[in-house]
Amino acid sequence: MAEIIVNGGKQLTGEIAVQGAKNSVLPVLAGAVLCDGECVIHNCPNLSDVQSSIKILRNFGAKVSYQDNTVTVDCRSIEKYEIPESLMREMRSSVVFLGGIIGRTKRAIISNPGGCELGPRPIDLHLSALKKLGVEIYEEHGFLNCNAEKGLYGTEIHLAFPSVGATENVILTAATAKGVTVIHNAAREPEISDLADFLNSAGARIYGSGSDTIYIHGVDKLHGTTHTIIPDRIVAATYMSAAAITGSKLNLSHIMPSHMVAILHTFRESGCDISVKGKALTITAPKRLSRVPTIRSLVYPGFPTDAGPLLISMLAMAKGTTVFIENIFENRFRYINELNRLGANIKTEGKVAVIEGVNSLSGAKCVCPDLRGGAALVVAALSANGQSEIDNISHINRGYDDITGVLASVGADIKTKE
Ligand code: UD1
Repeated sequence: MAEIIVNGGKQLTGEIAVQGAKNSVLPVLAGAVLCDGECVIHNCPNLSDVQSSIKILRNFGAKVSYQDNTVTVDCRSIEKYEIPESLMREMRSSVVFLGGIIGRTKRAIISNPGGCELGPRPIDLHLSALKKLGVEIYEEHGFLNCNAEKGLYGTEIHLAFPSVGATENVILTAATAKGVTVIHNAAREPEISDLADFLNSAGARIYGSGSDTIYIHGVDKLHGTTHTIIPDRIVAATYMSAAAITGSKLNLSHIMPSHMVAILHTFRESGCDISVKGKALTITAPKRLSRVPTIRSLVYPGFPTDAGPLLISMLAMAKGTTVFIENIFENRFRYINELNRLGANIKTEGKVAVIEGVNSLSGAKCVCPDLRGGAALVVAALSANGQSEIDNISHINRGYDDITGVLASVGADIKTKE
């Protein structure tokens, strides 16, 4: 199995162009399923999750090509409506294809995604909202058999929690339903607005994305379109943490600072100097990072749960003690044992992590438990004395386009060993 080898202690310098957002590409590709025409989607990073999405599309019968970060997809030839269990297992977020395929074929069969590495990940909110739109759902032998042959009808939906995936699935299902759908307590993440912008460019009529009330006026048909995926704010936070923990100065381009307000605030509190210019920023780390006031992960525009591991990793080397409270997922701290193998001093209890900053980290063997936890190990290894071997990196490849190549290009001693 491939691993990442890091010889820590190198300063980073130069510029990184941040990749497109994984969490936008997946719903946008699901949105392409609704379109009667060719969709050309630029800035799609080369990720295993994108490859899994392409497999799902091809399995439906779509024509898809991927070249130079552009996915070209034509879904007019779709005949099938099943997501095989193997593909659901490869990528649990494939549940977002449910709304797209229901909208197009009025049928869907998917396996129930169940738990994942971040703890139980129910889809009850998705299913109850889809039922309100007219989808009949039968659960049998771990599969969800969905049928909307009697038609999809706009309605009022109140989400008990502003779930990102549920908001996306409702938008997708309602885009070509009859009448108006209103989502109350919708997720406000930038990736939701990216999906709405994509669908609107294909002829949908979606209003209010980015706020907690979204109005979807169903249209008969969507057409082909061209769209560029927004920058990945979590990947940007990853490379910023890499700069911060190594005491470096790094330029990031292709970012959207307005999507990163909570993240930038936390970096500044740790003593980093950040100057933003348009869609680029320069981060200059202090000699020693300092602790920050308690961080609480929250829905957008609060501090994003996905950036938690990266900031915790960096704050493991700060002066003083930081408290991090994880409010979104139940089982997000599994990477912390691995960080402690590198010499960090972090204790967890329930949803709270207490990070006592240490003076140095030391290279060790460790294993990625999940995507962002794996990236957090890479960040820590960059500043650790000696060599680290990070195993089980398939998790990292789900969300980072060539993380070793990118970090090596700014001076890290890092490589992938197959
Ligand atoms: C998306 C992101 C993920 C990010 C998360 C929160 C994608 C592909 N993934 O995941 O990277 O960490 O948003 O910002 O975009 N929940 C329920 N019932 C449901 C749905 C969700 O109880 O039907 C709970 C979840 O278990 C979790 C919380 O709601 O505790 C947030 O989940 P949600 O916002 O749905 O996250 P995802 O869309 O799965």
